[in-house]
Amino acid sequence: MMLFLKKLHKWVGLLIGIQVLLWLLSGLLLSLLDPAKVSGEQWAQTGSHTPGTIPNDPLLEPDELPAEHLEGARSIALEVRRGHPVYRVRHLHGITLINASNGSVITTSEHDAKILAQQDFTGTGEVISVSQGVAPDLETRGNSGGYWRINFSDKAHTSIYVSVSTGEILQRRNRYWRVFDFFWMLHIMDYPGHEDINNALIIGVALIAIWLGISGFILLFGSFNRHDFYFLNILGKHEDAIITLIGPGTRGPQQVRLRKGSNLFLSLATHDIGLPSICGGGGECGKCRVKFEADELPEASSLELGLVPKRLREQGYRLACQQEVTHNITLHLPKGTLVREDSAESDGHELA
Ligand code: FES
Repeated sequence: MMLFLKKLHKWVGLLIGIQVLLWLLSGLLLSLLDPAKVSGEQWAQTGSHTPGTIPNDPLLEPDELPAEHLEGARSIALEVRRGHPVYRVRHLHGITLINASNGSVITTSEHDAKILAQQDFTGTGEVISVSQGVAPDLETRGNSGGYWRINFSDKAHTSIYVSVSTGEILQRRNRYWRVFDFFWMLHIMDYPGHEDINNALIIGVALIAIWLGISGFILLFGSFNRHDFYFLNILGKHEDAIITLIGPGTRGPQQVRLRKGSNLFLSLATHDIGLPSICGGGGECGKCRVKFEADELPEASSLELGLVPKRLREQGYRLACQQEVTHNITLHLPKGTLVREDSAESDGHELA
């Protein structure tokens, strides 16, 4: 079970780890960017707009306006735009401005849009191009209706969007915002729209990441053994066991003295006897197989049941990283064991 959990944790971690890294990286970048530059407020004309006074000229009543302009209207308000009284008619999908004197629809021309954008932009740069859009794109999302895009030659590559129907500034975009938007997309994992933070993909990946954290904790606690807590017993009394080693790396039987209760793999390593391993004692690779020579063989752990075939277990093979030193034993070391010259002595001499 633990072996399966380890393998699953490893592979899921590899997949989800990339996104977790992207979350951290994008989160850091989003927090480092200057909000005033990202929003374009840094180069926007500030100051309150004073509403004009409605002239005393004869005006059309709302019910006198052409019916086609009022179809589906949600609200109508009278206001002054650049000195002229207009009705602001709000529809489900946008706003229409109607000349309150003659009932004609007011739209913003390319020339007017350019002037409005220049009045709004306080940065250093000239208008280099103007284009028209009829539907919202990634830069104008959240708005409705047609717009003019006025591009400036400043270092931030500013684009100001002006509504065709109202002449209002819809958005101020620049390269800071574009960088922000790219990392925001990576952060919320809404690749097509860049704005849905409740999308199924991010919810799914977040749930898997939570599972990854929980399984990581389970594996972390499972990886501790008594050997790890020896430092708590510095002044305590310790008992040792004599381990006789036989194997390709030794010159005849050699002995080492290991502390009882310690992990066999780690204790041998502290005596410069390196058993073959890929997982570093993690109970994953099955390489640290040693053969116990004893009348009574130690219990095989659940990891050993998965990594050591039954036939070999019956012959006394166990994983050193899963075994504890309990008493004097004789061990057959596997091929590939690295034994330092002076780590053990031959002919039955033991090392402290
Ligand atoms: S060191 Fe890998 S299983 Fe023991």
